[in-house]
Amino acid sequence: MKNFISKILGQKSIARGYVELELSWPEDCETPKPGQFLTIRIQDQPVPLLRRPFALSSFNLDKRSASIVYQVRGKGTRILESLPAGSSLDILSPLGNSFTNPSKEETAILVAGGIGLGPILYFARELDRAGMNTILVFGCRDKTLIPNLPPLKNGSIQYCTDDGSAGFSGSSVAYLESLSLKELSQPRLYACGPTGMLRACHNFALKADLPCETAMEEMMACGVGACMGCVVELEGKEQKYARVCKDGPVFQSRDIKWT
Ligand SMILES: Cc1cc2nc3c(=O)[nH]c(=O)nc-3n(C[C@H](O)[C@H](O)[C@H](O)COP(=O)(O)OP(=O)(O)OC[C@H]3O[C@@H](n4cnc5c(N)ncnc54)[C@H](O)[C@@H]3O)c2cc1C
Ligand code: FES
Repeated sequence: MKNFISKILGQKSIARGYVELELSWPEDCETPKPGQFLTIRIQDQPVPLLRRPFALSSFNLDKRSASIVYQVRGKGTRILESLPAGSSLDILSPLGNSFTNPSKEETAILVAGGIGLGPILYFARELDRAGMNTILVFGCRDKTLIPNLPPLKNGSIQYCTDDGSAGFSGSSVAYLESLSLKELSQPRLYACGPTGMLRACHNFALKADLPCETAMEEMMACGVGACMGCVVELEGKEQKYARVCKDGPVFQSRDIKWT
């Protein structure tokens, strides 16, 4: 983990209310892994006080740049969106753990919803680069929220809309239920998105007896494991709680107590 000043290399809208931000990454800072995140001190003012956490959505080793995909939600992200290329950002990263790589025999099914797109996209791009068979499933309310993404070379992207305005008509989990899992080589599930979607992915994985990892996005204060402000309750573990920022954000879904 390193605290550094980065420059914004560019920002572009990829769907209604969603922005992809590319930032410079110093030579002496380790390469982040899919699932890991950064925190940004948005500006040198008392408000917003807390650093804002965002998952990495890509990393370019040659260019030494990284990206995040964020939804414009409140004060912090509105300020972030207004910053032009060349602006400085105070970054702390890489933070947290990362997804477990699937084996060559496994088919990775990556499910994303809303602000969960970033880490899933990074993982999908890395697996695709490694020639792995990957299915990325992105669920959203309607077609205006479908991100403009380049296709995967070795895998596929399935969009799902609740209102049926594009792609599969229904939720991402309804899409999973429509798949013939027997035709896939050893499916393995990964998910990031709203809690309801994560819970549904976990229940699907339990029923289908599939391994499933979920990246959690709890509210955070310190972001480095010091304040216990981001705990999730665990199931069947000696330890009752885990910190999302330090012990996660990626957990085996069966280890989480889904309430
Ligand atoms: C590990 C981690 C990774 C994240 N990755 C991403 C990402 O890749 N892209 C992205 O857009 N967002 C991500 N988030 C959420 C992001 O940090 C918040 O959306 C952001 O901090 C909001 O800042 P704001 O000042 O604009 O909004 P605020 O004014 O602080 O809040 C606006 C609204 O957003 C809600 N909100 C704030 N923080 C969170 C949160 N952590 N989870 C859910 N709702 C929240 C608040 O309840 C409020 O309703 C991540 C959060 C965590 C903990
Ligand atoms: S945010 Fe402080 S311990 Fe996680």
